[in-house]
Amino acid sequence: MRIPTRVVLAPMAGVSVQAFRRQGRRFGAGLVCSEMVSCAGLQHGNERTLGYLRLGRDESPLAVQIFGSEPRVMAEAARMVEDAGADVVDINFGCPVRKVTKTGAGATLLEEPGRACGIVEAVADAVSVPVTVKMRRGLADGSRAALAVGPRLVEAGAASLTLHPRSAKQMYTGTADHSLTAELVELVDVPVVASGDVTSRARAQAILATTGAAAVMVGRAAQGDPWRIAEIVGARSDTPSREEVVAELVLFMRETARELGTERATGFLKKFYGWYLGRGRFPRPFKQELLVLRTIADVEERLFVAAPGARDVLARLEDEQPDIDETLLDLPISIYGGG
Ligand SMILES: Cc1cc2nc3c(=O)[nH]c(=O)nc-3n(C[C@H](O)[C@H](O)[C@H](O)COP(=O)(O)O)c2cc1C
Repeated sequence: MRIPTRVVLAPMAGVSVQAFRRQGRRFGAGLVCSEMVSCAGLQHGNERTLGYLRLGRDESPLAVQIFGSEPRVMAEAARMVEDAGADVVDINFGCPVRKVTKTGAGATLLEEPGRACGIVEAVADAVSVPVTVKMRRGLADGSRAALAVGPRLVEAGAASLTLHPRSAKQMYTGTADHSLTAELVELVDVPVVASGDVTSRARAQAILATTGAAAVMVGRAAQGDPWRIAEIVGARSDTPSREEVVAELVLFMRETARELGTERATGFLKKFYGWYLGRGRFPRPFKQELLVLRTIADVEERLFVAAPGARDVLARLEDEQPDIDETLLDLPISIYGGG
C-alpha cells in the first residue's frame, strides 16, 4: 500500500468525523483514520456504531480503528469494516480510558500479550486488507510493555505499529518519550508510526530522523488547525487569514451536520469553535458569543459577520468538494439492518 506523505492524521474519539478526515487529507495527510469503533457495538448492530462505517469513496487510503477484547468478535467487526470499504483495519491497544480498559480492551491488552496476539491473528485471518496496531508504551509510568509485545504482534500479523510512547496512567500529561519509538523501530521489520507531541515540521523531522520511524502521526495539533498539517508536510508555512479560518470552520460545520444530523452536530461542534477561533485568531469573547447561540445556522451567520470575505473562500472550497452523497460507498445490506 502506498501512502503519499509521511504524515498520518491521528484517530481521535469525538473528533475524527468524515469532515475532519477529508480536511486532513486536503491539507496533506497521507493516511487518515476513523476514531475507535466498538466491535461489541458492531456486533449488536448499534445504530450509532454502524454510522462510523459510513465511508466515502474519496477517503482512501483510510484506516478504520476497532477496539474490543474478544478475538472472534474483533474478527467479525474487522470483516464489516473491510466490507464498508476501509483500506486498513487498525486495532486499538492504547486507549487509557477506564470505560474501555475495564472491559479488557484498549491499553490493558498490552499487559496481556497472549490475548493481544490472539486478537491480531484472528483479525488478520479474517480480512485481506492490512491489519495495524496502535499502542501506548504500557499501563504504568516507565512501562516498556510495548517493546515486549510489539514484535509478537508483528509475528501475529500486524503490518505496521503505531506507538504513542506515554503510559496509560499518564493520559496526556508529561511528554511522549520517542526514545522508545526508536527502540521499537530496531525490534521490528514493519513500518513504525510515531505518535505524540508532533506539533511542527521541525519536531516531525527530528522525530523521523532520531527514531527511524516511517511516518509521524498528528493529533491534537490538527484540531481546528489543518494548516499545521500543511506546515508539517512542507506545503505552506504562513498563518491562515481570518477569512480562511471561518471558511474552513463553516465547511466543517456543514459537512458534520450532514453526517451526524443537525441535532447531534450542534453539541458536537462546540469544542471546535474554540479550536478554530483561538490561537490568537479572534478575540476571546467571540468564542463565548458563539457558544450561547442556539443553532448552527446562527453560528454561521455570526461568523460571516466577523469575516464577510469568508463567503467567497467557502464558495471556492465547496466547489472543490466531492458530493458526499454521491461518493458514499455502497454499504452491504447487513450493515444497515437490512436496509
Ligand atoms: C480527544 C482525543 C481522542 C483520542 N481518541 C483516540 C482513539 O479513538 N484511538 C486512538 O488510538 N487514539 C486516540 N487518541 C490518541 C491520539 O491518536 C494520539 O495518539 C495522541 O493524542 C498523541 O498524539 P498528539 O500529541 O499528536 O495529540 C485520542 C486523543 C485525543 C486527544
